[in-house]
Amino acid sequence: MENKSLLKIENVKASVGEKQILRGINLDIGPGEVHVIMGPNGSGKSTLANIIMANPVYTLDEGKIIFDGEDITDLSTDKRALKGLFMSFQTPQEVAGISVENFIRQGRLARGEKSSLIKFRKEVDGKMDLLQMKPEYKERYLNVGFSGGEKKKTEILQMLMLNPKLAILDETDSGLDVDAVRTVSKGLKEYLNGENSAIIITHHREILKEIQPDYVHVIYNGKIVVEGDDSLVDRIEVEGFNWVKEEASANE
Ligand SMILES: Nc1ncnc2c1ncn2[C@@H]1O[C@H](COP(=O)(O)OP(=O)(O)OP(=O)(O)O)[C@@H](O)[C@H]1O
Ligand SMILES: [Mg+2]
Repeated sequence: MENKSLLKIENVKASVGEKQILRGINLDIGPGEVHVIMGPNGSGKSTLANIIMANPVYTLDEGKIIFDGEDITDLSTDKRALKGLFMSFQTPQEVAGISVENFIRQGRLARGEKSSLIKFRKEVDGKMDLLQMKPEYKERYLNVGFSGGEKKKTEILQMLMLNPKLAILDETDSGLDVDAVRTVSKGLKEYLNGENSAIIITHHREILKEIQPDYVHVIYNGKIVVEGDDSLVDRIEVEGFNWVKEEASANE
């Protein structure tokens, strides 16, 4: 039987300015799958996330990105978002003048939202409750003056409300306190219930508390050098990345 694919990344090479960062990345993510990406600081994890979302700061030099059966390599960020791709940023931006609620509502309207504002608000309140966020935050300007952890929760709130087919979470767990990581992990579990997929970029196991990853990929110096199951997360937490680096240089 043919393997069904939601996101397929073929030999992606990418750079920022003159600097090549990704040196040939291949990934194949099926519907409902959870993939974890680990790797030392500066190895290219956020670059990969941004390339999948078509952030114009990053240049795709080579390779192809297929999403939901369609070649999206040349599509802009907003078109990719409309097709069901979502990214939670490692460093969420502050947007003065647009409230959290309005920002999310705009995203939903762009996708043909039909429900009334009252119904929409009720839904936001429900998700905020799940994430243990105070309801008044929905009226504040997006991320402006939010604490680091509050920004990360707001990203997850957007994910839950937009319900993308694939969510890329770039260190959503960094800066969250112990309880907040668990809350976010629960939110993630709710989101994943069904056909939704996720790419979780992380340095820690805690975010995976409520969910079971299908695959773990380790990036080093712009390439995926080790792949395996959940046990890789534990190995990295115990041993760090030195063995990964050794394996990478043996394969160069
Ligand atoms: N906008 C940019 N301008 C210049 N260099 C960049 C830019 N974005 C990424 N880089 C460089 O590309 C390399 C990979 O960065 P990237 O952010 O992808 O790493 P990462 O794996 O996400 O690391 P971390 O675990 O610290 O988040 C780094 O050396 C970084 O300095
Ligand atoms: Mg990063």
